[in-house]
Amino acid sequence: MASSYIIMSSVMVLALVMALGSVAPQAEARAFFVFGDSLVDNGNNNYLATTARADSPPYGIDFPTHRPTGRFSNGLNIPDFISQEIGSEFLLPYLSPQLTGNKLLVGANFASAGIGILNDTGIQFVNIIRMFQQFDYFKEYQRRVTALIGARRTKQLVNGALVLITVGGNDFVNNYYLVPNSIRSRQYNLPDYVKFLISEYKKILMKLYDLGARRVLVTGTGPLGCVPAELATRGRNGQCDAELQRAASLFNPQLTQMLGQLNRQYRSNIFIAANTGKMSLDFINNPGAFGFITAKVACCGQGPYNGVGLCTPASNLCPNRNIYAFWDPFHPSERANRYIVQQMLRGTTKYMNPMNLSTILALDSRT
Ligand SMILES: *[C@@H]1O[C@H](CO)[C@@H](O)[C@H](O)[C@H]1NC(C)=O
Ligand SMILES: *[C@@H]1O[C@H](CO)[C@@H](O)[C@H](O)[C@H]1NC(C)=O
Repeated sequence: MASSYIIMSSVMVLALVMALGSVAPQAEARAFFVFGDSLVDNGNNNYLATTARADSPPYGIDFPTHRPTGRFSNGLNIPDFISQEIGSEFLLPYLSPQLTGNKLLVGANFASAGIGILNDTGIQFVNIIRMFQQFDYFKEYQRRVTALIGARRTKQLVNGALVLITVGGNDFVNNYYLVPNSIRSRQYNLPDYVKFLISEYKKILMKLYDLGARRVLVTGTGPLGCVPAELATRGRNGQCDAELQRAASLFNPQLTQMLGQLNRQYRSNIFIAANTGKMSLDFINNPGAFGFITAKVACCGQGPYNGVGLCTPASNLCPNRNIYAFWDPFHPSERANRYIVQQMLRGTTKYMNPMNLSTILALDSRT
């Protein structure tokens, strides 16, 4: 009762914020930029010829409009909850034709489902916006904003922005482990592949710095082996797949370490590690404590754990999305996303390194 009241009232506040936003865009709120994969894509792939898309029902069933938007969620995703925290409208996908004029000043979402750190990740999805192309669009964005408010204010807007980047899971799931004996798995053993990914990711983050980003939340990978898709295809008796869990447990600490190196190099806490793997394990290991009846079975899907294939209009659909940790075979539900962003905001250094988002927001509002 209480939680559904809170959700109802926040949906109403949100509708109000969106309604006001369309009349008088708040140029004051901090800009927000998002890069990465399906965990943070809010609709770019709707504009592309690719199978990696979330633009048909029941996606978006709990979104304020109750329509699919391209978000891989029943409702809000991680960037949406962050937008709410910084007092901003939801970001538009960069490819949206509505992203023009003053709306550009709110920021933009460049993420594209299916992409990875490596260019060869997600090749089966054909036309997706790979990392280097997300950055090309970010450059184009900055040229468009410069035409609107001038170079000096554009630089301020970009330097003062909050940035979120979520990438890496697909480099395992949709590359190294996509098929037995994949090209990358013949080229590298797992520890060496992780080292290679981290060194490529480092170049990506340095590029982001060169493009003007100065406050960047970097998420690790989730518990790759525990998602319903892997329970259905690789796991035994509902146990998380050990090999994918090993991949995540190698990748995440090395990522945090690499971010520390970059911060020392730039002599500033530019990059903040968000341990989304640990956040997700909290509700996977103890779903009941979070009000979930299961963290194994997806709300939308088919086959064992609803983990086989895609979430489509023909899939099983749970009546109450709030009691499922996973919305579809790969992606957390809105409720789980809400918990993840709460931990980003207020978590201890076990979750957020070197500090949490509420500390960052307080720090940055003083400068
Ligand atoms: C990815 O592809 C782009 C465009 O072909 C290229 O510029 C870039 O260097 C490639 N990145 C890597 C890591 O190979
Ligand atoms: C995280 O944020 C809360 C405020 O919500 C603060 O009290 C706490 O000390 C922070 N923790 C760390 C480790 O930064």
